[in-house]
Amino acid sequence: MTQQLTAYPVWDRSVRIFHWLNVFCILALIAIGVAILNDKALGVSNDGKLLLKTVHVYFGYVFTANLTWRIAWGFIGNRYARWQSILPFNAEHRTQLSAMVTGIKTGKPVGFLGHSPIARFMVGLLFLLMTAQATTGLVLAGTDVYMPPFGNSIKEWLASDPLMVGSIKPYSKEGIDEAAYKEMRETRKPFISLHYYVFYLLLAAIILHLLGVLVSELKENNRLISAMFTGKKVFSEQPFDAE
Ligand code: HEM
Repeated sequence: MTQQLTAYPVWDRSVRIFHWLNVFCILALIAIGVAILNDKALGVSNDGKLLLKTVHVYFGYVFTANLTWRIAWGFIGNRYARWQSILPFNAEHRTQLSAMVTGIKTGKPVGFLGHSPIARFMVGLLFLLMTAQATTGLVLAGTDVYMPPFGNSIKEWLASDPLMVGSIKPYSKEGIDEAAYKEMRETRKPFISLHYYVFYLLLAAIILHLLGVLVSELKENNRLISAMFTGKKVFSEQPFDAE
């Protein structure tokens, strides 16, 4: 017997555009990040390194602007786009978790239109890691290649003379006060360490996210993947969190 399937709208246009632009930026940032990490093995010259970092930062700006927009959209978007329905550890999440557990125990699994309670842990972690990567990245852009938003302030900090600010360039010691430079490199250390370790954590989280989506798509047959294109998921029974 064929089951009657109903399509429910869930992901609004802003969420879908954010998602695919985010995927594109992260892939580009990872690819260029890996090249920066392996610059010596790849035989990249100083100019090449500077170019890699500059392009990485431009993708980083798009990534950060898109993420900032999504963070704001979490306060104004539809019910399923809002933080209250996305992040774990709130009252709604606890209710969903217990409904899920009861469903498993009674052999009648419940479906979720928005993120499932398990997916909410994953999505919360992804947003946390991406925010950390955007924040540390902006600091590195300023302290490594003197790019906005902090580049000019960093140059003013490092200049041996206020008139030399304009002559400070990446990978050159011209116009730089040695003591201030050392101090700046010390200050940026925790940011580069975080950017480096969060990169690996993000890679692991992305792989888990993809596996989770794939397993859910195959097991629940709810067209989860196409929902990020069409905005709609299908269910044979009314999902737990449908309006
Ligand atoms: C998903 C987001 C991102 C990933 C996966 C990523 C990945 C990486 C990796 C693997 C490196 C090499 C780290 C090292 O040399 O130790 C790197 C370096 C760098 N990243 Fe990112 N990045 C991201 C976002 C950003 C953003 C948003 C910006 C700035 C707008 C940025 C700016 C930089 C800069 C300036 C460097 C060079 C740092 C240095 O060598 O001192 N990154 N990134």
